[in-house]
Amino acid sequence: MRIETSVTRLLGIDLPILQAGMSWASSNAALPLAVSRAGGLGVIAAGPMYPAALAEAIDTLRAGSDKPFAVNMPLYRKGSEEILDLLEQKRVPILIASQGGPDKYLKRFKALGTICLHVVASEAHALSAANKGVDGLIVVGGEAGGHPPEALVSTLVLTRAVVRAMDGRLPVIASGGFADGAGLAAALALGAGAANFGTRFMATPEAGLAQGYKQAVVAAGIADTRTVGRGLGLIRAIANEFTERMTALETANAPEDDRRSLFTASTLKMAALDGDVQRGKLEAGQSAGLVQRIQPAADIVFEIAREYRAIVAALPR
Ligand SMILES: Cc1cc2nc3c(=O)[nH]c(=O)nc-3n(C[C@H](O)[C@H](O)[C@H](O)COP(=O)(O)O)c2cc1C
Repeated sequence: MRIETSVTRLLGIDLPILQAGMSWASSNAALPLAVSRAGGLGVIAAGPMYPAALAEAIDTLRAGSDKPFAVNMPLYRKGSEEILDLLEQKRVPILIASQGGPDKYLKRFKALGTICLHVVASEAHALSAANKGVDGLIVVGGEAGGHPPEALVSTLVLTRAVVRAMDGRLPVIASGGFADGAGLAAALALGAGAANFGTRFMATPEAGLAQGYKQAVVAAGIADTRTVGRGLGLIRAIANEFTERMTALETANAPEDDRRSLFTASTLKMAALDGDVQRGKLEAGQSAGLVQRIQPAADIVFEIAREYRAIVAALPR
């Protein structure tokens, strides 16, 4: 099955379905390999990976498929220079950079022929990245799991604003709140060339997450996430003991040191690897409420594409 858009043409994929880079969940080969093989774009999240593990995951993807894949690189991470050197050496086909400006990597990867996508959370960042010469934008709205923009502008409004600001200059990928074929149709209707699906792909056997975390995603309703850590690196996470304690401190206007010490004592790793669903950061988007079961990643890709076709066919003229 093929659905052709500006983004599928840019990336050389069959379907405008990206599996979002997610620390731990996609810091492996299994999830991105399954998505790329199915015709979407699989993304390895390099954030928490040691160079040797990242190199091995890239080799596994290359050995398992000749389809394109991407590596997501949070630019703020410790040792980012070493990781960028490795990605250059491995000549990854697509780089998705987040949490930093394009100057740090763009010239060198463009010179290699790498397709460079940049994650943005405002019109101003979108314009600045476009002017610097990135190949495409991933626009993250307030519904998103992980780090939504502090202003929490919804994906519906932010995608539209960035598409208008770009005026056809660059392909745009919408991220945050997409879980199914209706979401994909909505993203394309807004003028994006693809949707980025994060939380939906957490509920897969391939995601590198403790079983309890996956079950918490399936069990969550649409109103069960919280945004906490304002001014400290805001996150959206499923409500648990940690988010409730954090919310209490924020509501009471507690001193920044107190908020910071609770915020940094809890980590995504505690939830993802140790399965501590009460004290860890159970990062997930509002779309967790639309995720009903754990299913293989390839089935999700095919299901989204099938639903998209049926939904578009049924739209009133
Ligand atoms: C558990 C988790 C980890 C994430 N880790 C990263 C990351 O390492 N780098 C990044 O750019 N975005 C990260 N994100 C954000 C996603 O790439 C994506 O923007 C978001 O999941 C989209 O919203 P959705 O979850 O509603 O689909 C993460 C999101 C989640 C839920």
